[in-house]
This record gives sequence, C-alpha cells and structure tokens, in this order.
Amino acid sequence: MFEVNEGIIQVSYIIATILFILALGGLSNQETARRGNWYGIIGMAIALIATFVGDVTQHYEYLIVALLVGGTVGIIAARRVQMTQMPELVAILHSLVGLAAVAVGFANFMDPARLSHYLGVELTIHDIETYLGILIGAVTFSGSVIAFGKLSGRIGGKPLTLPGRHWLNLLLLIASFWFGYEFVVQSAAGGGMQPLIIMTVIALLFGIHMVMAIGGADMPVVVSMLNSYSGWAAAATGFMLGNDLLIVTGALVGSSGAILSYIMCRAMNRKFLSVIAGGFGTSEGTQVAGAEDQGEVAPIEAEETADLLTNAKEVMIIPGYGMAVAQAQHIVYEITKSLRAQGVNVRFGIHPVAGRMPGHMNVLLAEAKVPYDIVYEMDEINDDFPNIDVSIIIGANDIVNPSALTDPDGPIGGMPVLECWKGKVSIVLKRSMATGYAGVQNPLFFLDNTRMLFGDAGDTLDKVFKEL
Ligand code: TAP
Repeated sequence: MFEVNEGIIQVSYIIATILFILALGGLSNQETARRGNWYGIIGMAIALIATFVGDVTQHYEYLIVALLVGGTVGIIAARRVQMTQMPELVAILHSLVGLAAVAVGFANFMDPARLSHYLGVELTIHDIETYLGILIGAVTFSGSVIAFGKLSGRIGGKPLTLPGRHWLNLLLLIASFWFGYEFVVQSAAGGGMQPLIIMTVIALLFGIHMVMAIGGADMPVVVSMLNSYSGWAAAATGFMLGNDLLIVTGALVGSSGAILSYIMCRAMNRKFLSVIAGGFGTSEGTQVAGAEDQGEVAPIEAEETADLLTNAKEVMIIPGYGMAVAQAQHIVYEITKSLRAQGVNVRFGIHPVAGRMPGHMNVLLAEAKVPYDIVYEMDEINDDFPNIDVSIIIGANDIVNPSALTDPDGPIGGMPVLECWKGKVSIVLKRSMATGYAGVQNPLFFLDNTRMLFGDAGDTLDKVFKEL
C-alpha cells in the first residue's frame, strides 16, 4: 500500500530511539518528567508510523483493527485508573509484552519459510532467539498476571513458601536448559514443537511460583523487575523479527528496569537475590508483642498539634505509606500553604523507599500540586534535623525508625532513615501502635520528644487544619 524508502524508515527508527533515551533522561527528575513524557509519546508515535508504513504486512486491515482496539483499551484504562492503582496497571501491561513475545515466538517457529530461509549455524542462532524469547515472555506473562492479582488485592499478599522451593526453581531451570537443547536439535530435523510447548508450560509455572513467593509489600520491587523482564522480552522479539528499534527499545526498558530494581533494593538495604528468592515480608499492620516493654507513649490532640505548628519556625513533613492509604496529600498541602502564609518554613523530607512504589510520595505530592522546590530527598535534608522545631510524620514508620541504625541485625538494620528524633519534637500520625512493612517496633514512638496523634491521617489532619 505504501512505498516508503527503507532509508527513511531506518532514520525514523533512529530518531525514535533518541527520543526514547531523552524520555528516560527526562523522567529521572520531577521538573523534567513532563517533557520526558512528551519525548516518549512523540518517539512512540514516530515508531508506530514508521512500522505502519514500512514493509511489515500486506494486510493493513488487521493492523488498523489492532491499532484501534489497542489504542481504545489504552485510553480507557489510562482514564479510569486511580493513582493508587498505577502499580497494578503497570503489571498488567507488562503481561501483555510477555504474551506478545510468546505469540511472536510461536508464529516465527511455525513460519513455513523458516527452514529455507535459515541454514546451519544461522538456524541454530534463530532457534535460540525464539526459545529465549518465548521463555522470557512466558515468565513475564504469568509473573505479571500474579503481580496484578496481588497488587489489586485479588490474591493475598502473604508469600507462598513451598517446602524446598529453591530446589523446585533450580529443577525448573535445569529442565528449561535441557528442553532448549532438545528443541535446537529437533528443530534442525524439522521438529521441535514438543520441547517448545513443554518449556512454555515450565516457564509459565516458574513465573507464577516466583511471584507467589514474594511478600505483599515487596511487590513494587517485583514490578520493576518484571518491567526489566518485559524489556528483555521485547528485545528478544526484536531479534526474532529482525527489528532494530524493538531490540534497542527493549534493551533500554530492560536495563532501566534492572537499574531501578537495584536502586530500590539498595535503598531498602536488601539484596536483590533475596527479594527474588522471596519468603520475606509479613502482612503489614502486625501488632508486635513486647511493645509495652519500651515504655509509655505520649499522645497529643489536634489542637495542641496546631499550636506547636504555628509557633514553629522550621517544620519538616515526612510522608509515608499511611499518607497514601489516607489520601491525605491534599489536606497536607492546605496545611503547608496556611503555615507558610504565617511565615513558617515548611519543607518535605522524602525517603527513597517511602510508600510502596518508587517515587510514590513524589507522585502524591505532585498530584496535590505541592511545589517541587520545598520537596527534598533524604540525603539533602538529613543533616538539618537539629534545626527543625516540629517534624510531622504522616503514616510513616520504617523510614523514621532509629533501630535501623542501632540494631544492624534487625530486618531494617543498615537502612538509612530520616533522623527526625534529632529535632525538637516529632509528631507521629498513625491509627494504632501497629508496625509498618518490616514488622519491627519503632523506638521513636517512645522517645521523650515524640508525640503520637492517633487516628486516620486524613481525619486528624482535617482537624489540625480547622484548628489552624
Ligand atoms: P510503613 O513502614 O509501612 O508504615 C506505614 C504506617 O502507616 C503504618 O505503621 C500504619 O500504622 C500507618 N498507616 C496506614 N494507614 C494509615 C492511615 N490511614 N492513617 C494514618 N496512618 C496510617 O511505611 P513507610 O514508613 O512509608 O516505609 C515504607 C516501607 O515499605 C519500608 O519498610 C520499605 O522498605 C518498604 N517498601 C517500600 C517500597 C518502595 S519502592 N517504596 C517497596 C517495597 C517495600 P497504623 O496501621 O497504626 O495506622
């Protein structure tokens, strides 16, 4: 239908690749994130048009229907999804990349022209590409579906710890290698479908088992890891289809997802392999035995909190997972505006793993339109705490736990935390004495300069705002 010079297509692919790289660069910073998004959108539009007019099919009617269906589903999903449902949307989208890699792999293998097109070593290489593409695609697909189930609450968050599960994984891995060998040998002789199907089933089971074994609150790490896998699946699809753009884009997604998983694990002081091996992470909200051993906590009411805030010069707001649960970001900003109007210097201190997904707090604060220049990373403000009059800890727990520094062998031992206890007063907003994600008691609550403001953070902040 279209007669477009191959050179133009290749140049378009290169431009799209550059735009994708610029998009990733832009997304690394809040102020440039919007621009980064636009680079990505334009790059994807160019890639789609170039693929559409390039020599990919003689049947444009299928392509148009697929584009319309995919585009409509995408627009509806993006419009409907709530900010808190973002991780599960991302998970289900990853599953589609995995499914596409499996479908392309099988279509490629069943292509009758394959045996005449590739000979000898070339055939072996092509077969290995197909096998790996289907393997990674199937793990990504089933793993992402389970991740979606867990993140949306359809599947319980508790880790599934089968006896001998590491041996089971090892067995599945060895079996995949064995069937890979069988597949390459049989494929050269005109067969190979049987080992390919068996491996696909194994890979699907492996994906399910891997994600089922990971505790509920560790899911964000899994999402970034599956993001990385989906990139490698796309790159493998690119190899199968001989499409350079798909190879490069897949590699970009694969490596950025891997780097993100690494950054998050480092910020949590966890080893990547131990997250993947699973079994860690209780259901959050556990009441710890022995809490009373640490002494009494000193409660505070909204009225007194408002007094302390208006009389302060320096206020640090430390949001955590509970702010997301209570959806308190809007009222937090109202309070911030009111205090700043009275001359109080209010700033936000953000821990890299606050909440349950990378950048969780930044996204919520951006949604409430909190200006970026009063939002600080942990490393930027941790030394300022001795000068802080009041720290307001909104539904945060592990990220302000001093035992991370004093108990190196504990579950969060070694994790850097926001050292709010060095300020004059810390006010902790939470509903009970329950622990956070890591399931450890927080000695901060029992310190002399800490006050506990109990209740849902949204409700209590409403009261504080009224008092202000
Ligand atoms: P957590 O330690 O999980 O503490 C959240 C606290 O919020 C809980 O103690 C809970 O206490 C309180 N809360 C829940 N709902 C609330 C509500 N409606 N109103 C008021 N308080 C509420 O959260 P954090 O301090 O943000 O730390 C994050 C943790 O998650 C870290 O351990 C981190 O390693 C882990 N994690 C993070 C990520 C990423 S990427 N961010 C990924 C995996 C794991 P009550 O129940 O008493 O209210």
